[in-house]
Amino acid sequence: MGNTTAAWHEDRIAAAVAPLLPGFAVEAVAEIDSTNTELMRRARAGRVEPVLLVAEHQTAGRGRLGRAWQSEQQSREQTSLLFSLGLPLAPADWSGLSLAVGVSVAESLDPSGEHRIGLKWPNDIWVNDRKLVGILIETAMPHAGKPGAQRYVVIGIGINIGAREADGMRTPPAWLRQWRPDASGPEVLGELAEPLVRSVREFEARGFAPFAERFAARDVLRGREVVLSDGTAGLCEGVAWGGELQVRTDAGLQLISSDEVSVRPRGMAF
Ligand code: BTN
Repeated sequence: MGNTTAAWHEDRIAAAVAPLLPGFAVEAVAEIDSTNTELMRRARAGRVEPVLLVAEHQTAGRGRLGRAWQSEQQSREQTSLLFSLGLPLAPADWSGLSLAVGVSVAESLDPSGEHRIGLKWPNDIWVNDRKLVGILIETAMPHAGKPGAQRYVVIGIGINIGAREADGMRTPPAWLRQWRPDASGPEVLGELAEPLVRSVREFEARGFAPFAERFAARDVLRGREVVLSDGTAGLCEGVAWGGELQVRTDAGLQLISSDEVSVRPRGMAF
């Protein structure tokens, strides 16, 4: 996996998070196929310790819906922040986890809302209709069938730090250095990690409800005409308390909960 070029301050981040998640560790690697793939491999092999794995480059990054997630070859300047958080999790209801993660990351990147960092259901983070962050959540059940078996969740996050070309992307990119010229991957990871773990633990205890109004405050689809991936058009009426997208169509109000349904604002080419 090779030596990293940046100082990731693994111990500092681990020390900040450990009170929330005993045994938590941070690992930084120069290159890997995908941080999500690696943590899912470990979980399937029975390794379910809480960990954050950050990579300076991914050779086979993965996005939602089976798509690839391209990150440009990293330099000392760190074009993207690429990491996955893995931990055992046992919420009463899983719906809305990806939205809660989006809320946490958006709030860490833009606490006051001044940069208009918004959330595009279910879990993209957009700025001016451009994509700043992608989130991929996967789960494994390594001890399925055994009493007390817990799910292991892998929360993968890719953040554009430096300028990116739009080549082949479904949504044109935004990047953090557009308004934070000195932003670096390690600095941003240091800002995000502890609040992210805190949010995931809060979700585990209380579900999506504590995040619903915070999501609404940054919801970029609410009040806009949207088109579902099956071609149905309607007016987005925001997100329900269970995390479903509410779309008013000719057939009435539809509650969209499936990750398989993609949504785009009407009139947009992507
Ligand atoms: C999406 O928008 O489709 C989700 C993109 C998620 C990308 C991140 S980068 C770190 C982690 N490792 C992966 O292979 N994917 C996620």
